Amino acid sequence: MDLHDYKDVAENYDLYLEAMYSQENNHEGFQEFYLNLARHYGKGGVVDIACGTGAVLLYLAERGIEVDGTDLSEEMCKVAAAKAEAMGLSLNIYPADMTGFSSGRKYSLAIIARSGFMHLPTQELQIAALRNIREQLTDGGILTFNTFDPWPAVQAQQMQTDPKKDYSLRLEYVNRDGNREKIYNAITYDPYSQQMYGYWKFETYDDAGNVIGERVRPLLMRETYRSEVFLLAQLCGFEVQAIYRGYKGDREVLSDITTAALYSSNLIWILRKK
Ligand SMILES: C[S@@+](CC[C@H](N)C(=O)[O-])C[C@H]1O[C@@H](n2cnc3c(N)ncnc32)[C@H](O)[C@@H]1O
Repeated sequence: MDLHDYKDVAENYDLYLEAMYSQENNHEGFQEFYLNLARHYGKGGVVDIACGTGAVLLYLAERGIEVDGTDLSEEMCKVAAAKAEAMGLSLNIYPADMTGFSSGRKYSLAIIARSGFMHLPTQELQIAALRNIREQLTDGGILTFNTFDPWPAVQAQQMQTDPKKDYSLRLEYVNRDGNREKIYNAITYDPYSQQMYGYWKFETYDDAGNVIGERVRPLLMRETYRSEVFLLAQLCGFEVQAIYRGYKGDREVLSDITTAALYSSNLIWILRKK
């Protein structure tokens, strides 16, 4: 079980994400970015992979894009499906691992939005996912996902973190039951596996400020260097067509891609099936 597999995490996801991104938003403009991509590349159908609670899926569907959604977490799918129903949208949303999903049809655009790809914890799983997604695409189909350029100073800091006890406060929000909740996390980094792993702790308060509950949920992610993405693409039958620096960012010049990135670069990769 990982963070998003838990019912309580799925049901509070939209609420805590809103609080998280009101402080620091690495994903500003993401829905509009994917809508533009879908209008350009999605004529043969779109699949939102690791769709979570449907932030992209529902945004596109509401605007007339033909889109399916899939996510490893049944709980996230349930939340997305309930939101779709409340909006009067009839959508195909189903739980599946991106390393093996197939809906029996092909798509001209596959989207993995907002960090979904980083939840594949090994290179083997990344390869399995890319190869499977390629199978689900029409000829010349497009896959997009993003990576955060790893940054040694942050890695060094995280390597000092004990994931069992070095919690730091990440944010505060009001949960779906109306209780104030603080979220802490303790995340460490292993330079050999390039994995970030640790725990998120949700501390719940009553109106008088007393702690009335605590839930600890694990998280495992992998950092991927830009040079790896080029090799992964080549290995799995894709070519890198473009890279955007952030959802509102500039398109990278292809000849300049291998130069060092600025810290905090949220790289949005556009891969074409060869
Ligand atoms: C950070 S959330 C992003 C959700 C959504 N794309 C969004 O923008 O709100 C990452 C999602 O990836 C899903 N996920 C993790 N590993 C997966 C896998 N192997 N296959 C499919 N989904 C996966 C999680 O369940 C979670 O919902």
